Amino acid sequence: MIHPEHQRRAYLQAMGIDVWLPRDALEPDEPETVTSEKAAADCMDWDQLRQCISDCTRCELAQGRTQTVFGVGNQDADWMIIGEAPGAEEDRRGEPFVGRAGKMLDEMLRAIGQSRESVFIANTLKCRPPHNRDPKPAEAAACRDFLDRQIALVQPRIILAVGKIAAQNLTGSDEPVGKMRGYPHDLDGIPMVVTYHPAYLLRSPSQKRKSWSDLCLATRLMSEAGA
Ligand code: URA
Repeated sequence: MIHPEHQRRAYLQAMGIDVWLPRDALEPDEPETVTSEKAAADCMDWDQLRQCISDCTRCELAQGRTQTVFGVGNQDADWMIIGEAPGAEEDRRGEPFVGRAGKMLDEMLRAIGQSRESVFIANTLKCRPPHNRDPKPAEAAACRDFLDRQIALVQPRIILAVGKIAAQNLTGSDEPVGKMRGYPHDLDGIPMVVTYHPAYLLRSPSQKRKSWSDLCLATRLMSEAGA
């Protein structure tokens, strides 16, 4: 539960409005920046969130990006797909999963009767890590409020976490995908299925069979929930 005063201050700060407070209004141990950044994200609408992400300088990736990659698709989607981070092509075009891995993701979506337009696709990170290296834990942590707010706004009925980075960040586990896939997870009340990243499936096509069974699991969870 966010304190209403924190929320008000955070909201004003997010809007670029200076908040002046008497010195004794702050509690001595209050982690002001972290609290207010999270509270700010937690009360943003789509436009505010989009703007806040595009202005973000929370981590060093801001310096190397061409642009942030917000996410695409249906803002009221039943399905939310969460990947890792933009690559070179995504950084250039400002859209997630537009390279070869994106084509593979499109095929996975088609297999379950979905499309880029019917689902919402987001990444754990909104900026491209240099040389396509793995995101650092601090970068994922800095970006987490944004992803949490996207999930809260979409209110998906199911989340598909594709690849290690998304799965580990969302579950808080450090297990490999092979151990996290094949059974349902619960993300604050939303069922979540973990599967292999489409880029990995391109490199290891023999794993497509397992990924297909993960997609079937996700579809089954959706129908059990009455969607
Ligand atoms: N891989 C991802 O995880 N996300 C993208 O947007 C592109 C490739």
